[in-house]
Amino acid sequence: MQELSFNEYPEAWQGFLQACQSCKACELWKSRREIVVYRGSLEAPLMIIGEGPGREEDLQGKPFVGRSGRLLDDALEALEFPETSYHICNIVKCRPPENRAPLEEEALACRRLLSAQFTLVKPRFVLLCGATAFHYFTGRKDPISRARGIFIESKGIEVLPTFHPAYILRNMNKRDELWQDLALMRAKMCERGALVPLRHPLEGVEH
Ligand code: URA
Repeated sequence: MQELSFNEYPEAWQGFLQACQSCKACELWKSRREIVVYRGSLEAPLMIIGEGPGREEDLQGKPFVGRSGRLLDDALEALEFPETSYHICNIVKCRPPENRAPLEEEALACRRLLSAQFTLVKPRFVLLCGATAFHYFTGRKDPISRARGIFIESKGIEVLPTFHPAYILRNMNKRDELWQDLALMRAKMCERGALVPLRHPLEGVEH
């Protein structure tokens, strides 16, 4: 996806990006190299929310650009999600030290920016990657292993929790579940007219 220079962003986005750059709402700003806001499309129907930036993301200023990001990208590509169809971000925009999960106060402090981002992107579909995103986004405390793969409809938005790609890297036997969840999301987006259905691989093949 082509990167925009600051002046190419719509005015509302410029204000939002400036608010991100100057954010000191929690202690994480002190140790960050780059604030990690998003990658993907500005007006995507699908928002993908992870936990928080890791080392690579902190260096590059973009979410999911390390190993787990490659796994996520592979899955999105395999299921033919166009790059224009998603906007990737995190529960917190600054890297927590030692890659620990964000603390509740950090997630709460970052919520104002995530809400503003949500208002700008206006997604109709949300994929929550991992327990942290699931807990902080929905307020629910049940295990991700039970919640994954089941849509939660809220105010016209279809929210789907799934496993975090980093968890899949450590548990490759769960890989199919992530793929299945993305396929479910794709099917829901097609049903609602936000994506075109995948052509069956054998469609058009002469028998
Ligand atoms: N893990 C996340 O949750 N987010 C990132 O951006 C990278 C790794």
